[in-house]
Amino acid sequence: MTLITEVGLRRVLDSRGNPTVEADVYTDDGGFGRAKAPSGASTGEHEAIELPVSEAIASAREQAVPRLVGEVYAGDQRSVDAALHAADGTDDFSEIGANSAVAISMAAAKAAADVLGAPLFQHLGGTFRGDELPTPLGNVVGGGEHAADATDIQEFLVAPVGAPSVEDAVFANAAAHAAVADILDERGHACGKGDEGAWAPSITDEEAFEVVEQAVDAVEDEVGFEMRFGLDVAAAEMYDDGVYHYSDGTRTPEEQIDYIAGLIDEYNLVYVEDPLDEEEYEGFATLTDRISTGTLVCGDDLFVTNVARLQEGIEQGAANSILIKPNQIGTLSDTVDAIELATENGYDAVVSHRSGETEDTTIAHLATATSAPFIKTGAVGGERTAKLNELIRIEHNA
Ligand code: PGA
Ligand code: ZN
Repeated sequence: MTLITEVGLRRVLDSRGNPTVEADVYTDDGGFGRAKAPSGASTGEHEAIELPVSEAIASAREQAVPRLVGEVYAGDQRSVDAALHAADGTDDFSEIGANSAVAISMAAAKAAADVLGAPLFQHLGGTFRGDELPTPLGNVVGGGEHAADATDIQEFLVAPVGAPSVEDAVFANAAAHAAVADILDERGHACGKGDEGAWAPSITDEEAFEVVEQAVDAVEDEVGFEMRFGLDVAAAEMYDDGVYHYSDGTRTPEEQIDYIAGLIDEYNLVYVEDPLDEEEYEGFATLTDRISTGTLVCGDDLFVTNVARLQEGIEQGAANSILIKPNQIGTLSDTVDAIELATENGYDAVVSHRSGETEDTTIAHLATATSAPFIKTGAVGGERTAKLNELIRIEHNA
């Protein structure tokens, strides 16, 4: 039952038009699962290694597939992921590629769910999971590594914290995205979109705060529940030679902490991701200590979904939340371990897409299965709405 009989790997397109890995897994009892690896642009230094796609596919075919076919049961996710680690033999998937590993790991989970005839979140989470669905954080304005000549801060994220349902939350975020476009238009800033579908105007961060605040207030009035917003600063991308580089100058680490704490206060931010460089555990701890518990300080490049790095953060009191990206660590088992360690220590898990995405919906199921309080998966655009619409279906038991 669920013995893997075939693993197929191919090159397909991602949302940036780049190649990525798609994996198909078949089982002896008719199960079939298909999954695709996403890809980051502002990647953390300590992430598992994404190999060039052709290399990742060739290497996984040679090393991983023989260890899976006829050997491992798709329903036993820990064995699938252990076989991927054994095939790779390194601690960062630099041999078979984290892109091949994560696609196979997720495809195996889907094949097992297929055999059960159950939705993926049920297979991953079990019958006794809670029925709280994640609140979606919607990227509405951004720049950084995701768009040229736009804001310094990578993402301005709306957070429909008072939404009574996922469906209401998803539509509120889309309304905020539309409201931002109207406000930018009124201000004479016609613009295109960045990699995640957020507006990418050539404006200062200061003006972006005004625009997003105005949009959030307008949508809050319209929908009648609480809307707030937050940021992914992606500060590691700005950090060089001991200072943070902004368009209008630099900030020392101390000044950066003051700046972020000031923004949290001024805009009542509910969420701040990567406010400091990815090696700055101490700075993260100082900031976390300084602000109220009503704001999530989230480590993305800091933790890279890695339990050892998260453990270090827990010991130092760095952050109170972790971004979860399966391809940063390479398997679903390692991903769930990070979520569990986070949850046990009072850190909120935020399951996340990458800037390079596909129509794959695995993260919607992962967030549901693990009762993650938040999911970050954009606001609009086909590869983003694939996940959002899947959450609506999960909510409706459809
Ligand atoms: P990435 O960006 O997928 O380009 O790394 C997303 C993020 O930083 O959260
Ligand atoms: Zn990030």
